[in-house]
Amino acid sequence: MSGRAVEGPGSAFRGELVAPGDKSLSHRALLLGAMAEGVSRIRGLGPGRDVASTDRLVRTLGVEVAGDRYRSAGPAAWCPPVSVIDCGNSGTTLRLGAGALAGRPFRSTLDGDASLRRRPMGRLVGPLMELGAVVVTSGTGTPPVSVHAPAPLHGAEVTIGLSSAQVRSAFALAALQATGPSLIDSPPGFRDHTERWLEHFGLGAWFTETAFRIFPGRVPATEYDIPGDPSSAAFAWVSAALVPGATVRTEGVSLNPGRVGILEVLARMGAEVRSEVTDAIHGDPVGEVEVVGRELHGTEVGAELATAALDELPLVGVLGMYGEGMTVVRDAADLRSKESDRIAATVDLVRSLGGEAEPTDDGFVVVGTGRPDGGIVESAGDHRIAMAAAVAATASTGPVRIVGAEVAGVSWPSFYDDLEALWSSR
Ligand code: S3P
Repeated sequence: MSGRAVEGPGSAFRGELVAPGDKSLSHRALLLGAMAEGVSRIRGLGPGRDVASTDRLVRTLGVEVAGDRYRSAGPAAWCPPVSVIDCGNSGTTLRLGAGALAGRPFRSTLDGDASLRRRPMGRLVGPLMELGAVVVTSGTGTPPVSVHAPAPLHGAEVTIGLSSAQVRSAFALAALQATGPSLIDSPPGFRDHTERWLEHFGLGAWFTETAFRIFPGRVPATEYDIPGDPSSAAFAWVSAALVPGATVRTEGVSLNPGRVGILEVLARMGAEVRSEVTDAIHGDPVGEVEVVGRELHGTEVGAELATAALDELPLVGVLGMYGEGMTVVRDAADLRSKESDRIAATVDLVRSLGGEAEPTDDGFVVVGTGRPDGGIVESAGDHRIAMAAAVAATASTGPVRIVGAEVAGVSWPSFYDDLEALWSSR
C-alpha cells in the first residue's frame, strides 16, 4: 500500500526540538534583502520548498548569492523577469513577491502549481491599485497574477476586511517604493513580522494597534538570524500535549504574538505551557517554549485567536479528538483558501481516524472521543494536513498511514525523521 505509516511512541517522551528556520521570516528576509543595496546576510533560512521558491525569485531579479550572503543593487536595478515566475506551492512567495514587484515599471507575472492556482489573489488587487499599481489576476481572481507600476507609486491609506499578514506585507513592500507615506489597517491577530522589521529599520510606525504607516525609503542591507518556526514546532508541542507527562522544549523559536495562538489553545485545553521571550531579531521576539502533556478537554477558538493560530488549526482538530468534550473553531473561513480546503481536510482527517467532526461555514466542530483508532489519511496535497496526521498517531491505538506524506517537504523536509527522533528521546 502507498503512503507512509507512522506509529506513535507508545509512552511518554521527553526531548528537545530544534525547529527549522521560520518560513514567514525567511520569505521576508529574502525579499527585504533584495530590496536593499548591498550585502544582506541571512542565516538559518527555512529548509522547505516554499522558501526555495522565494530564493529562486530573488535570484531571477538579479540578486547574487554566495552562501548565506545576498548581494543586491536594490529594486531599481532588478532585472525584468524574462518568463513567468514560478512560485510553486508558496502563497507567501506569490503574494509578497507581487507586492515587491508591483512597484517596478516592468510587468512581472507570477504563477504556481495546481494548488496555488486555486487560491484567491483578488485580495491583493484593491490595496496595490490604491498605490497606483496595475494588478491583473485570472478571471476567477486566482493566479497567474501580473503586476507593474505604470508610473511611480504614490502613497495610499487602505483598510482591509481580512486579517491577512500576506496582504498587509504585500502592500508594505510596494508602499516602500512609493513617493509618499502610506497606511494599512485590518482586523487584529495577524503576524506582524514585516511591520516590526520596518519599524526597526525606521521605515514604518504604528498609528494604532492595527494600523501601520509605511515611510518610503531604502531598506538597509543587514544581518538576519532566522529563528525557529513556531508553525513547525507546533507539531511537536501538540504531540507532547497528547500524552500526559510527555515534554518538549524548543529554544530560539519566533514568539511573534501573531504566531503563537496555538500555545494559548494548548493552555486552555489543559496542557502545561511555559514560554519566555529571551531574544529578538530586529524587534521581533524570539524565545523558548516548554509543553508538558496533561489530560485535555475541549475549547472554543474564535476571531483573533483563530488568526494567531491559523496555520495550526488542523492540529486543533487533532487535539479535539483527544480532549474531553467539544472543540469548536470559528471565524476561520479563510482556512478554505489555504494549500487545501483545510476545513474539509481537517474534518476528513479526524473522520479517517475514527473520530467525530463536522464542518461549519467558518470552521469545524470536533467531538472528543479519546485516543483515535489509526487509519489512512489523505494529505490533500497540504503539508500541514500530512503533518497533523502524523501527530494524530502520537497515542492512536493503531498506525496512521499518510497518503501524499512527502508534501511535508514544503515546510520541513526532515519532519517525519525529526518527529520519530523526538518520540524516542526519554
Ligand atoms: C503568512 C500569513 C498567513 C499564513 C501563511 C503565511 C505570512 O496567511 O497562513 O501560512 O507569512 O505572511 P494570511 O496572511 O493569508 O492569513
